[in-house]
Amino acid sequence: MKVLVTGGAGFIGSNLVEEYLKQNHKVVVVDNLSTGKKKYLPDGITFYEADIADAEFLRIVEEEKPDVINHHAAQIDVQTSIKEPVFDAKINILGTINVLEACRQVPGVRLVYASSAAVYGTPEYLPVDENHAVAPLSTYGISKHTPEHYIQSYSTLYGIPYTILRYANVYGKHQDPKGEGGVISILVDCAVSGRDFTIFGDGEQTRDFIHVEDLVTANVAATEKSYNEIVNISTNIELDLNKTVAIFQEVTGTELVVHYGEERKGDIKKSFLDNSKAKNLMGWEPKISLHEGLLKTYQFYKKM
Ligand SMILES: NC(=O)c1ccc[n+]([C@@H]2O[C@H](COP(=O)([O-])OP(=O)(O)OC[C@H]3O[C@@H](n4cnc5c(N)ncnc54)[C@H](O)[C@@H]3O)[C@@H](O)[C@H]2O)c1
Repeated sequence: MKVLVTGGAGFIGSNLVEEYLKQNHKVVVVDNLSTGKKKYLPDGITFYEADIADAEFLRIVEEEKPDVINHHAAQIDVQTSIKEPVFDAKINILGTINVLEACRQVPGVRLVYASSAAVYGTPEYLPVDENHAVAPLSTYGISKHTPEHYIQSYSTLYGIPYTILRYANVYGKHQDPKGEGGVISILVDCAVSGRDFTIFGDGEQTRDFIHVEDLVTANVAATEKSYNEIVNISTNIELDLNKTVAIFQEVTGTELVVHYGEERKGDIKKSFLDNSKAKNLMGWEPKISLHEGLLKTYQFYKKM
């Protein structure tokens, strides 16, 4: 198969590209390197340094004619989405519409879209399933959700098969210590560089941390077959930050100096996602325990 990965030089995209290559797919990456890094791109792929929102992207897709477009390129910083909503919407909303326009040029092409738990906003109940109301707190949540409507509409209008994956908090190698779900990369960064770690609030806020390798297997399933559905990709495990830090220190044998700072405005107190739809529909389930995932991530950065 030929798979075109937008955002393939980024954290999740580059982990995906590695797996697609292992599976002998032809891989094309389109990335403008705004946060992505060229060093994460392995040999053996075709790389275009281009913007998904530009007309050039349409030309690339028309020429490459991929079987699947896996759309991961996005502006992922919540604060940027609030400070620069026009910029954020241009990439996340208009960029995705451009990806859909590109899909129209290639009959039979299928789409995988990386969405986010940010679309749900403050949970009304836990774990959050796909029927939960969509009420994003941030403009980022809005700009990740709006394309879901466009994807479903394009699918109805033009028959483009799709799978929309709503991710919980992803962590693992190649993650920048800022951005969504970045708390574990900050933790690892502090441990490797010997800096203190700050928890904002009392540390009792809960998250659903999923290792990037589990995300990759979910994407592989959605690449092999389109489900035309929205599916949560998560561990279904609720863990608070204090416990996460304790487990991290235990499995890595590190000792961190932990400070408690003021709670950040807009931070969700409790969150984890129900993953039973992914299990039942896609036959997917997470395999990497938090212990294993934290150790792998720490060892990767320790070696660098
Ligand atoms: N990291 C998480 O915890 C998480 C959670 C939920 C959803 N997501 C989604 O997963 C996707 C990947 O996120 P990530 O954490 O790997 O972020 P990332 O910033 O590491 O990757 C995004 C990639 O897209 C590229 N990019 C940005 N704007 C572009 C543009 N206009 N044209 C072409 N390329 C562009 C960047 O250079 C980067 O390589 C995003 O769509 C994000 O919304 C991530």
